[in-house]
Amino acid sequence: MARKIAAGNWKMNGTRAALAEVEALVNAHPAPRVGVILCPPATLICAMKAIAGPIAVGGQDCHAEPSGAHTGDISAQQLCDAGASYVILGHSERRADHAETDPQVEAKAQAAWAAGLQAVICIGETETERDAGTTLAVIGEQLSASVPEGATGANTIIAYEPVWAIGTGRTPTLAQIAEVHDFLRAELAERFGADQATEFSLLYGGSVKPSNAAEIFQVANVDGALVGGASLKAADFGPIIAALESI
Ligand code: 13P
Repeated sequence: MARKIAAGNWKMNGTRAALAEVEALVNAHPAPRVGVILCPPATLICAMKAIAGPIAVGGQDCHAEPSGAHTGDISAQQLCDAGASYVILGHSERRADHAETDPQVEAKAQAAWAAGLQAVICIGETETERDAGTTLAVIGEQLSASVPEGATGANTIIAYEPVWAIGTGRTPTLAQIAEVHDFLRAELAERFGADQATEFSLLYGGSVKPSNAAEIFQVANVDGALVGGASLKAADFGPIIAALESI
C-alpha cells in the first residue's frame, strides 16, 4: 500500500521567522498518522529540521553531481547533510524557469537516491496541452523519461501537478484528477509490475486548500497532496493533514 503523504513546497518563501509556523504545526500535530513533509528554501532546511519533530524535511531541487564547480547549486549530499530526507525534482517552475528536461530530472533522481534521499518527481501538463487533448500523452512521456529505472515506492514519490492549477485557485475536476492518477498507476504497473506500482505514493498538487483537500483525497489513486501556498501557514496546512488522516 502506498504511504499517505501531505507534502508542502514553500518555494522561494520564508525566512527564519516563518519557522514559527512549523512550531505551531508540530504543536497541533505532534503524532500525525500520515507522512508529513515540508520543503523549505535550502537556507531553512537545517533550522527547520531541528524543530520539525515528526515532520520530514526536503529540498526543492538538487544538482545531479555530488560536488564540483557549479556555483549556486546544491548537491543531494548537501541537502542530506543539512537534514533533508526528500527532494522535489522536476517541478514545473524549474522546468519553466531553468529549462530543466526530463533526462536532467532523471539524473537528479539518481543522485538523490545515491545520497539517501527520496525523490518527489513532479509532472504535469500545461493548459495548452490539456486543451489540445494531449494531457495523458504529455504525462506519460514525462513519467517514463523523468523516473529512472530502479524506482520503487520506497525511493520515489510521483506528484501530478497540472501547470494551470498551480497558484491559480483553479483545480481540475475530480474526474480529471482520477483519470490522470489511474493512468499513472497503470503506467507504473506496466513498467515496474502491478505489485510495485501500488507502493508508489501519487500526490496531487495545484491549488490544494483546506476547503478542497477532503474531496481530492477521496479520489482513487490519490495518496496525498503536494501543497504550495497553503503549506506556508499552520492554520491552512494543519487541516489538510487532518483531512488526509481521516481518509
Ligand atoms: P499551490 O498549492 O500554491 O497551487 O502550488 C502547488 C505547487 O506547485 C506545489 O509544488
